[in-house]
Amino acid sequence: MAVNLLLGLQWGDEGKGKIVDVLTSNYDIIARFQGGPNAGHTLIFDGQKHVLHTIPSGIFHKNAMNVVGNGVVIDPVIFQKELENLSKFNINISSKLFISRKAHLILPTHRLLDAASEASKGKAKIGSTLKGIGPTYMDKTGRNGMRIGDLELDDWKEKYSALTEKHIKMIDFYDVDIEYNLAELEAEFFNAIDILKQLPFIDSEEFLNNAIKENKSILAEGAQGSMLDIDFGTYPFVTSSNTTAAGACTGLGIAPNKIGEVFGIFKAYTTRVGSGPFPTELFDENGATMSKVGHEFGATTGRPRRCGWLDLVALKYAVQVNGVTQLMMMKGDVLSGFDTIKVCTSYNYKGTEISHLPYNIEEHNVTPIYTEFKGWKEDLTSMTNIKTLPKELNEYIKFIEDFVEVPVKIVSVGPDRKQTIMR
Ligand code: GDP
Ligand code: IMO
Ligand code: MG
Repeated sequence: MAVNLLLGLQWGDEGKGKIVDVLTSNYDIIARFQGGPNAGHTLIFDGQKHVLHTIPSGIFHKNAMNVVGNGVVIDPVIFQKELENLSKFNINISSKLFISRKAHLILPTHRLLDAASEASKGKAKIGSTLKGIGPTYMDKTGRNGMRIGDLELDDWKEKYSALTEKHIKMIDFYDVDIEYNLAELEAEFFNAIDILKQLPFIDSEEFLNNAIKENKSILAEGAQGSMLDIDFGTYPFVTSSNTTAAGACTGLGIAPNKIGEVFGIFKAYTTRVGSGPFPTELFDENGATMSKVGHEFGATTGRPRRCGWLDLVALKYAVQVNGVTQLMMMKGDVLSGFDTIKVCTSYNYKGTEISHLPYNIEEHNVTPIYTEFKGWKEDLTSMTNIKTLPKELNEYIKFIEDFVEVPVKIVSVGPDRKQTIMR
């Protein structure tokens, strides 16, 4: 039995939470492998909406175990809020949610450092979710971080104090106006740690590899998207982890030869929240329609998402870097009603047509070159059968499949669990 991966192929918010929830009934274990509460994964079923930030999207299913892997960074305060939101659903959390001892902790001062760093950048800011992700991964790779397993040691508060003291000096160094009350932040943090400690901390790489030996099925749930990957995304406007397939190996301790299917998930158009290049971004009525019909507001920060046509140059790149074996197309319903739909098939880069993602993609040096399609008028949201999909949509999907050379296996036609068509 192999480990399958589910990864966002764009700039995040493709609909990963929804599809993990849809697929969970096929798996024994759902595992998050990177990122932290910068993620916001939305699940809708039985008329209720749920947004998860750190907890894997398999948590609502009776039989699935959920693992927060070593590659994840955890903010106990946000984690506590997520647990509180789940408390009304009669889920036996401590028997089905496990946390890696090697996952790193986001301290209150990591959040402050994130804010200070962004403030110091002025117009060049990344547009971070300000959840402390960058500073926490910096401490991890700088070998100064605090891990979940440290909380089992007697001297963890000393380690905490030493690191926090250092952070305060760094915040001063930024010389920007950041107001905070450390005593309040710490009270909230220590309280949340007590709650977190009620959950099982595990050596998750052992747990997962034993599960593989026992023939259990595992789905690794990505956060963010390939274009936000620290190595392959639109650097520096990226997040601080490897969101791509290889990140699942390091973020869970699973060897590459254990990976089976790689599910790549993308919106039928493109969105991006935060700063950075976005070649197909629209500033016209079409973009406004996508934003309105698609309710394009960040699930974590509530910020409006920038919208634009599908970028097949970027999608093909993401498919290649991840080794995607099956595609899932989300939000096709949002494109109903457009007379013409465009997809970017190459770029004009500094006056030359290119078909790959260039090194220094910047707003002023890349113009998309589009192929146009006739749109469809039918409302897709109540369709349940692939045979009822409009001919124009099938042509759109066929073009995408031919372009990136991977089949589209799921077409999502609405936010609800049930609005999912298998191909
Ligand atoms: P994630 O971060 O990849 O899990 O995605 P988000 O939850 O941040 O954003 C996806 C948004 O689109 C959520 O509001 C979902 O409820 C919604 N959504 C998911 N699939 C569909 C779909 O096929 N159609 C529509 N209209 N909305 C969808
Ligand atoms: P999910 O898992 C969309 C973006 C931020 C910012 C950049 C860096 O819901 O798809 P960070 O807080 O990581 O320092 O922010 O990355 N970003 C996301 N955009 N979806 C996400 O997660 C994101 N997580 C981070 O907006 O541009
Ligand atoms: Mg999201």
